[in-house]
Amino acid sequence: CLPGDRIDKTFLDATSHLKVVSTSSVGFEHIDVQEATKRGIYIGYTPGILTDATADLAFTLLLSTARKIPQCDQFVRARNWKTIGSPLHLFGTSVWGTTLGVIGLGRIGKAMAERARGFRMKVLYTDSQRLTPAEEQYLGIEYRLLDALLKESDFVSLHTPLTPNTRHLINADKLKLMKPSAVIINTSRGSVVDEEALVIALKEHWIAGAGLDVYEKEPIDPKNPLLALDNVVLVPHIGSATTQTRSAMSELAARNLLAVLKGTQPPSWLNPEVEKIRPL
Ligand code: DGY
Repeated sequence: CLPGDRIDKTFLDATSHLKVVSTSSVGFEHIDVQEATKRGIYIGYTPGILTDATADLAFTLLLSTARKIPQCDQFVRARNWKTIGSPLHLFGTSVWGTTLGVIGLGRIGKAMAERARGFRMKVLYTDSQRLTPAEEQYLGIEYRLLDALLKESDFVSLHTPLTPNTRHLINADKLKLMKPSAVIINTSRGSVVDEEALVIALKEHWIAGAGLDVYEKEPIDPKNPLLALDNVVLVPHIGSATTQTRSAMSELAARNLLAVLKGTQPPSWLNPEVEKIRPL
C-alpha cells in the first residue's frame, strides 16, 4: 500500500486471512499498527532508502522559494522578458550564510542539515532527544527549543513524523514567532502544520513564503486557498519520487511482503512483537 491507503480498523475488520501489510513508504500514520499487531498482521515499511531524495527535495523547495524559481520560469515562458537586467519583482532572498532551523533530527533532518552546511548556513535543530555536545559539534549544528528556533531561523524545515504530538505542531502561535522574512518548508506530513493558519500567515505576511510537498488533504483540494498564493512553491508529494529511490522502495516493499508469505522475518518491519501473536 501507499500513504493514501487507510489501513484502519474498518479495513482490518473487512479482512479475515490478512497476514501482512507492506507499505512502500517510511511514513506509517495511515496504518493502525496497534490494531494490526493485535490481529497478528505483520507490517513492512521502507525506511532509510528515501532519506537523501527527500532531503534533496526539501533543499530544492528552499532554494526555489528563496529565488522564486517557478515565478521566474513563468516570466520567461510568458515572453515577458523584454529588457536587459533582472526585474525587481523577481528578486529573491539569499540562502548562503542564513540560518536554517530543522524540526525533527531523524535521518532526513540530518541529511537536510548536511546540505545546508554546504551552503554555509548556520544550522539549528530541535528534537525530543537532544544530541550529545560531541555529536552536535560533529554535525555542526546547535540545539534550540522550538520557540527559540522559530524566532532565529530564516528557513524552517519540517522533518518530524506525524503523531498525535506533532499534529498542528506549527499553528498560528508558532507562525507568529517566525521572522516576517522567514520561509517554511514542509516535506514531512501536511498535518504537522495547521494549514488554515499557514494560509493566513502567508496572506498577512507574518512570514515571507512556504515550500510545500505535503498537505492536510492529498491530492490537494482544487479550492485550497494555497493555490491562489504567489509566495508559495507547491509540489505534489514527490519527496521520494526519483526513479532510483522509488524502485528501491518498491523492491524492499516486495521483499517485506514475500518474506512473511514464505514464513521468514521481513528485512524491514514495524512490529516485531507480532511474532509472539502469530509466529512465522
Ligand atoms: C514516505 O515514504 O512516507 C513518503 O512520504 C513517500 O510517500
